[in-house]
Amino acid sequence: MRAAVCPVHGAPDVVRVEELPAPALADGQVRVRVHAASVNFPDVLIVAGQYQVSVPPPFVPGSEFAGVVDALGDGVDAVAVGERVFGAAMVGAFAEEIVVPASSVTPTPEGVDDAEAAAFGVAHRTAYNVLRSVACVQPGEEVVVLGAGGGVGLAAVQLGALLGASVTAVASSTDKLDVAAARGAKTTINHQGGDLRQALRSALPDGADVVVDPVGGDLAEPALRSLRWGGRFVTVGYASGTIPRIPLNLVLLKGVQILGFEMRSFAIHAPDELERKEAELINLFASRRALPYIGKRFALDEVVDALRYVADGKAIGKVVLDVS
Ligand SMILES: NC(=O)c1ccc[n+]([C@@H]2O[C@H](COP(=O)([O-])OP(=O)(O)OC[C@H]3O[C@@H](n4cnc5c(N)ncnc54)[C@H](OP(=O)(O)O)[C@@H]3O)[C@@H](O)[C@H]2O)c1
Repeated sequence: MRAAVCPVHGAPDVVRVEELPAPALADGQVRVRVHAASVNFPDVLIVAGQYQVSVPPPFVPGSEFAGVVDALGDGVDAVAVGERVFGAAMVGAFAEEIVVPASSVTPTPEGVDDAEAAAFGVAHRTAYNVLRSVACVQPGEEVVVLGAGGGVGLAAVQLGALLGASVTAVASSTDKLDVAAARGAKTTINHQGGDLRQALRSALPDGADVVVDPVGGDLAEPALRSLRWGGRFVTVGYASGTIPRIPLNLVLLKGVQILGFEMRSFAIHAPDELERKEAELINLFASRRALPYIGKRFALDEVVDALRYVADGKAIGKVVLDVS
């Protein structure tokens, strides 16, 4: 099979496309013929050796895929050969075939194509659990989304609007903000245009109820300052490369809550909650009310360009690799 290979940790251009043997199948696993894979920011970090979990090279990068089941390990009866599925793994998705535990794949709903399925899981699951289970967003609440043109941010914009919130999207370009507005953002703010704290104060004179932050860096503190008394700030990631340090007196004076969400620990500590929200989210996906926005597609041979595009913060919504 053809696969992208990361031979040493480094910048995206260390990755090569090579011919590899098909991955071996063990009990409880399924082999999926990958049709599409999506490129997530953590893929860049894993290739660079800068992710929370280090994957020793050589490895096949890629954490999200969709395709067709082509073989089953012993003991698997929840899916069948020939079934369309999508799923996630730490690595292995930028290849014509991937082997994962059967529990890691979900049937692809009718009427959803492979690119949409590959681009859906990580961003929408993250955004949905952040909004529903962590921030407990209520209809009519004011929700500020940072990184609103990115994968997680744009999903949070769309899902926040679907939940009846009034969403303020914050991003660095008009192109990103136009897409966020088309996905339901009521207000848009280009943070390159000046003082974010002032812009948020003008847009939300009574303050925000919730901030969703997948970016960190210099944007986190002004966004936190935009919360009204009792608001909730959810830290989701640090795409800026900087983990912000927040003065705790802000939390004291404003009576706000700072909350966190990380998918793997949430799955370990709150599996029942995750399962309940998964049922709601798949329902939204199958009915096409919650679909990823695919801003750019690359061929498998262009994997370096795709990783670089995401690393440079250029992605609008999701970036998809067409694998076969
Ligand atoms: N907690 C979880 O379970 C979980 C799950 C998925 C992802 N994440 C994390 O969430 C973060 C966002 O993921 P994503 O998939 O939404 O990423 P993405 O599509 O690449 O979007 C990230 C956004 O961050 C902003 N940004 C600022 N500085 C940047 C820089 N130096 N490089 C790249 N982007 C920069 C950009 O927005 P501007 O327009 O403002 O520049 C960009 O649109 C990542 O850190 C990821 O690891 C966490």
